[in-house]
Amino acid sequence: MIVTHLELTDFRSYHRLQLDFDSGLNVLVGQNGIGKTNVVEAINYLSLARSFRTANDALLVRRGSELGVIKATIAQSASIRRITIALSGNGKKILINDKPVTRLSELSNVANVLVFEPRDVIIFDDLPKARRKFLDIALIKHSSEYLDAISRYERLLKERNEILKQERVNLMQLEVVTEQLINASQPIVIWRAKYLINVNSVINKVLKAIKGSEHHAKIEYLPFTSVGPDFLIKAKELYDRTKEGDLKRKVTSVGPHRDDFRLDLNESDIAAFGSQGENRLLAIALKLSPYFLIEEKEKRPIVVLDDVLSELDNDTQDKLILFLMKLDQTFITTTTYKRQSGTIYDVGPQGIQRRLGYGN
Ligand SMILES: Nc1ncnc2c1ncn2[C@@H]1O[C@H](COP(=O)(O)OP(=O)(O)OP(=O)(O)O)[C@@H](O)[C@H]1O
Ligand SMILES: [Mg+2]
Repeated sequence: MIVTHLELTDFRSYHRLQLDFDSGLNVLVGQNGIGKTNVVEAINYLSLARSFRTANDALLVRRGSELGVIKATIAQSASIRRITIALSGNGKKILINDKPVTRLSELSNVANVLVFEPRDVIIFDDLPKARRKFLDIALIKHSSEYLDAISRYERLLKERNEILKQERVNLMQLEVVTEQLINASQPIVIWRAKYLINVNSVINKVLKAIKGSEHHAKIEYLPFTSVGPDFLIKAKELYDRTKEGDLKRKVTSVGPHRDDFRLDLNESDIAAFGSQGENRLLAIALKLSPYFLIEEKEKRPIVVLDDVLSELDNDTQDKLILFLMKLDQTFITTTTYKRQSGTIYDVGPQGIQRRLGYGN
């Protein structure tokens, strides 16, 4: 899918902005603080109605204005859909083709956007929560079955934690809910294990295209207990062992909500040994991987890579750009761009200008 038209009204620093986009690579170039990320933030907002920079939607409305609006046209094969999102201090209104949206999943079906944000550079060295978030978002978009499984698990986890917080814990009730929780965790770890195997192979393809075949990456899933035919028995043993501690601390200490994964680049843990450039490249490959794991080609997401080129050497930048040009539609932001590849937009104090060049 691609976004063909974007209109911002009182969104972030823009009073009014109208842009048309082509498929392929779109490059937003301009100095610090000029409004490049503001544009890609709006594009990303189309997918989950959430900003990657803030949880506070009020910050997205231009200072001094009451209402901010994002309008976009999304083309997916032959179907063209218009999304309108109105943001204000009292919440947001979302329309697809002028009809109100009731479920957010409707939105991500129409506009699926993958984003690499500057903070993702440290994803391998970040808290496990950041890696679980990546996995959960990717899998939720991948399958509604996963969404059902994780919702059920989270409901049971909350229930178990509430039981643990009772003044006199009902041990029978704890036993019943623990068993339900273990059963609910099985599909989650199976999904995660399978998905990470696929992510691993995509990451290696990206790495090969950019760095050559002598490099290789290996993702290791770190589930709370081993995933195998004896999963239920092993998990039960683990919950038995941690029960006393859970009763004391009044919280569930083990389960998929504590899962993690790590990545080795050429046999060494990237978080501990990788250079900044290596971390950046592998983080980009990780964040891009869901793109290649969507079977229906027309549903492949729009890719947003905010401030992607910094810290990468020239050769890596060239190869990355060549790689990105093959995707349906990619947006990158950068402060300097000496290349001709892609459609270039100069972001300046007077607005955004599409640069005329070859093929325009
Ligand atoms: N709600 C808002 N109202 C008005 N201006 C805003 C609002 N939110 C952010 N801005 C302004 O937008 C500017 C930042 O824009 P943006 O983050 O897009 O810059 P950038 O071009 O990505 O810069 P960098 O290269 O440093 O990442 C800041 O000057 C900020 O004050
Ligand atoms: Mg920026």
